[in-house]
Amino acid sequence: MKKTILTGDRPTGALHLGHYVGSLRKRVELQNTGEYNQFILIADLQALTDNAENPEKIRQNIMEVMLDYLAVGLDPEKSTFVIQSTQPALLELPMYYSNLVTMARLERNPTIKTEIQLRNFQRDIPVGFMTYPISQAADITAFNANLVPVGNDQLPMIEQTRDIVSAFNRIYKTNVLVEPKAIIPDNESASRLMGTDGNAKMSKSLNNYIQLKEESEVLKKKIMGMFTDPNHLRVEDPGQVEGNPVFTYLDVFSTEELFKKYCADYANLEEMKDHYRRGGLGDVKVKRLLNDVLQDILAPIRERRKYYEERKPEIIDILKDGAAKARMITDEVLDNVRSAIGINYFNDKSFFETYIDKK
Ligand code: TRP
Repeated sequence: MKKTILTGDRPTGALHLGHYVGSLRKRVELQNTGEYNQFILIADLQALTDNAENPEKIRQNIMEVMLDYLAVGLDPEKSTFVIQSTQPALLELPMYYSNLVTMARLERNPTIKTEIQLRNFQRDIPVGFMTYPISQAADITAFNANLVPVGNDQLPMIEQTRDIVSAFNRIYKTNVLVEPKAIIPDNESASRLMGTDGNAKMSKSLNNYIQLKEESEVLKKKIMGMFTDPNHLRVEDPGQVEGNPVFTYLDVFSTEELFKKYCADYANLEEMKDHYRRGGLGDVKVKRLLNDVLQDILAPIRERRKYYEERKPEIIDILKDGAAKARMITDEVLDNVRSAIGINYFNDKSFFETYIDKK
């Protein structure tokens, strides 16, 4: 039987390069092997956990995220797109799972910790936000997902899911829930792409991101404004490559082929780095190369996005079909879960027998 892949994004803004190298690129690759059933979840409920006052933002970004998906080459013929809130199971399962998770366990989740800091939540953190790892476990298990392609920051969510699955199956003496595995990029820098400002993570809230839909001129401006090595003041100065976002991006995006196409002065990226380290290579030249490389990668994505922007009614149909297809799976998992716990009363003959006098 084909393995199932489930992954997703919060619809809080257009997707950026961090999403692309962390997960989107891998999804397209996995999709095109034809070896998996792949579901892509638009996690509107998760987005609401810290946007309760702003549902309009989420409504608008569902289409944004869909356009980005289609633009990078996810194909509705091969992958299924599902809006999270269309699946009742995703609201009910967390109720059962939350009884299997302690507060201490939630508080230890390193991604949640960082996100709490980033949002400046203290004790006024919404309960829904604090418990979204449980909701995400529902997302993953409701599709019987075996594999979850994600960036590094999502590993704690997969761990939490695995813990819930093993607790559930043990306590209710069943095997209805499938234990998922994460797939993370092999390239460390890709797994957690740094921001254009050198901050550890590219993110919308830090305003250090490059969107997939970025117009060519804006892209160039963002690249030319990127942070580099602060001690590399004059061209002659020796420069540092490690932790320098321009070189980190080149590591992630510049293939051998692209390097050859846009840089004739060096045999490969390593030679260019050596020159930078020695001194004598200016930032502008390196940035120009990065600009060429990223323009090359993003141009077809931007074009495909424009194509789909003219076809929004089709996209709505894709989402409707996805919701219906997903229901068949998530409803069944929910039913199995209820039966395993023993609360599927009316489908359970032994439940009635308990109450009927045996003569
Ligand atoms: N937490 C993910 C993010 O912030 C989004 C997400 C929601 C997700 N449900 C998921 C990812 C299930 C993988 C699987 O990007």
